[in-house]
Amino acid sequence: MTATMRLYINVDHVATVRQARRAAEPDPVEAAILCEAAGADGVTAHLREDRRHIQDHDLERMRPAVRVLNVELAASSEIVDITCRLRPYQATLVPERREEITTEGGLDVRAQGPRLRDAIRRLDQAGIRVSLFVDPDPAALDAAKDLGVPAVELHTGQYANTWRESGEALKELRRAARHAADMGLFVHAGHGLTYQNVVPVAAIAEIEELNIGHSVVSRALTVGMRGAVDEMLRLVKGARSW
Ligand code: PXP
Repeated sequence: MTATMRLYINVDHVATVRQARRAAEPDPVEAAILCEAAGADGVTAHLREDRRHIQDHDLERMRPAVRVLNVELAASSEIVDITCRLRPYQATLVPERREEITTEGGLDVRAQGPRLRDAIRRLDQAGIRVSLFVDPDPAALDAAKDLGVPAVELHTGQYANTWRESGEALKELRRAARHAADMGLFVHAGHGLTYQNVVPVAAIAEIEELNIGHSVVSRALTVGMRGAVDEMLRLVKGARSW
């Protein structure tokens, strides 16, 4: 069965521009409101331990300002505490390394099991839907299923890096989405998706949520946030008939 598709816009890089000057603008909360007004189904923001872009006060203002908030976070006790207090609709656990430019690779679910289990328990008790960001790898998906989460987000980075040269990563995503859905997991996807490469991923029937940030925020610089979201929505929602 083909699931309906939701598009969540990640507004981290609006905050990146602001933090470049430690100024008051641009405001990621204003951008988040515009994303939803343009038809996005929700907004995503990553509160990193190093606070390189989104700040705690951004999330405090964003939470009541948007309908659907997905907070990305590492399984660190401090950030889990903040997220539990905030009670967003969804929390997506991601790996985090200080030296990385952006999230590299999915969670090592087996190695991180106890830490993840604790974070999942606390988020779940706070009434937050939990998703795990994993590579499109059957073993990682099985491990995620064992942790009892309702949803996984498939890391599309490998696809984003290779889609021009080879169709292998797309096949891997299709297989992973099927495997996850067969186990009863809800399937999300994201990372490195752009206006050029999004359609084949959005066409995968089992995927119900895409998280897209950098490409949309970049496009917004020329056409504005409403226009950038609208263009992405047309591609993503149109892909279901592609
Ligand atoms: N999903 C996750 C789990 C991420 O960490 C990121 C990057 O913050 C994204 C999606 C969005 O990636 P991009 O900015 O490349 O669209």
